[in-house]
Amino acid sequence: MTDDRSTAIEYARSQKKIYLNNLIELLKIPSVSTDPDRVTDMASAAEWLAAQLKSMGFKKIRIYPTAKHPVVFGEMIVSPQFPTVLIYGHYDVQPAEPLDLWQSAPFEPELRGENLYARGASDMKGQVIATLSAVKAILASGKLPVNLKYLLEGEEEIGSPSLPAFLEEHKEILGCTFALNPDAGMTSPDLPTIVHALRGLAYFEVKVVGPAHDLHSGLYGGIVQNPAIVLSDLISGMHDAHGRITLPGFYDRVVPLTNEERQEILRLPMDEAYYKKITGAPALYGEEGYSPVERVGARPTLDVNGLYSGFIGSGSKTVIPSWAMAKISMRLVPNQDPNEVHQQLCKYLTDNAPETVTWDVQVYASGAACLTDANHPAVKALALAQETVWNCKPLYRREGGSIPVVADMRKILGVESVLTGFGLPDDNLHAPNEKLHLPTWYRGIETLIHFFYNVAESNFNKGDA
Ligand code: BES
Ligand code: MN
Repeated sequence: MTDDRSTAIEYARSQKKIYLNNLIELLKIPSVSTDPDRVTDMASAAEWLAAQLKSMGFKKIRIYPTAKHPVVFGEMIVSPQFPTVLIYGHYDVQPAEPLDLWQSAPFEPELRGENLYARGASDMKGQVIATLSAVKAILASGKLPVNLKYLLEGEEEIGSPSLPAFLEEHKEILGCTFALNPDAGMTSPDLPTIVHALRGLAYFEVKVVGPAHDLHSGLYGGIVQNPAIVLSDLISGMHDAHGRITLPGFYDRVVPLTNEERQEILRLPMDEAYYKKITGAPALYGEEGYSPVERVGARPTLDVNGLYSGFIGSGSKTVIPSWAMAKISMRLVPNQDPNEVHQQLCKYLTDNAPETVTWDVQVYASGAACLTDANHPAVKALALAQETVWNCKPLYRREGGSIPVVADMRKILGVESVLTGFGLPDDNLHAPNEKLHLPTWYRGIETLIHFFYNVAESNFNKGDA
């Protein structure tokens, strides 16, 4: 180890408490991007991050307004000879509801055992603070061995709608050798992971409208078709008996898994029993002919994320609802186009909706899937860092979640992303009682320190600063 490197690692070990308190501060800001009542909290989170960057000595710090939530930028350019790492992060979180299922309040972080519980602890304020902590440790021990730029957005959890335009508009300041994206996760506390593919997302709201207003189900039951039933029929028709999606043309662009990849996947320690335990479902379900890991990582899926119609208060009400609504999303694999999927959904509804209703589709989020280069020198630098800290080689795998910015960065900036993260599959992402496993998080901080020194020691095309 170079001297600076070991000093930085030692320093990080001495700062655990301070790093944790820093994270707790950020977690207390309820930055829920989808909630219009949280706009000022979103701004506070952006300001908090800009202040952090400032205190660390970053330059050109700016909070860029966008159509929705601001982007925070800052850079520390040490030498034009050094590679430049663009660190991506998002400071927004998913809604915390249903609140009554939280053991402690979502925005009052609580330490229980080895875990810190709060919305955003794992996804991904913890990851953002891990990168900042690693950089602080390096700065305290010497100078940065690489150039750094930070791009911190506030719209990831709503599909990053403003980011493509932002990347387009600010191409010059975002020039870099590659991007580090720590918004993916690990497989287990003892299995560091490099993610080389993510699924895309196409998210819609489908509304089916029948009678012009709610009707007494006794007076009118039998002469109008119930929109809740129509919508249920439409949804149930979206899968066939083999668990395949029936939207016309849905699989046309799906690239089949190679035998080689299927063999590789078999080596992952995630079988049916693993998924049954982690989900708590009485039995698993999915596309026939594929294992759970294949279904999650490499096959497209369709889900209902929300369903609403009629009387859902307590007690009963004899009513035929005027309308029914479903939030429906598809996870996409490389080559599928979210816009085409939108058309396929509309075609399906045109072909299958009865004349007793009208329907309407609203697009929420859309983002393409991505495959990254597992042989990129930055991936090697990361694998080596993980090996140093965990004493074992990392797993390479596809992940089923989505991070739209990865495809956007490749397309608009021509930049490759290295995907990692130090969250765990049981962190309750997007669910009640989200948590962060602190021992893994501290290892993550050390990994990032090693990573930056490894990058400095690898062979990159320099410049781009
Ligand atoms: N960090 C997640 C995605 C993720 C989780 C990737 C675990 C790999 C492993 C990210 O914040 C996320 O949840 N993204 C959304 C994107 C969507 C709203 C466009 C998702 O996947 O639902
Ligand atoms: Mn998320």
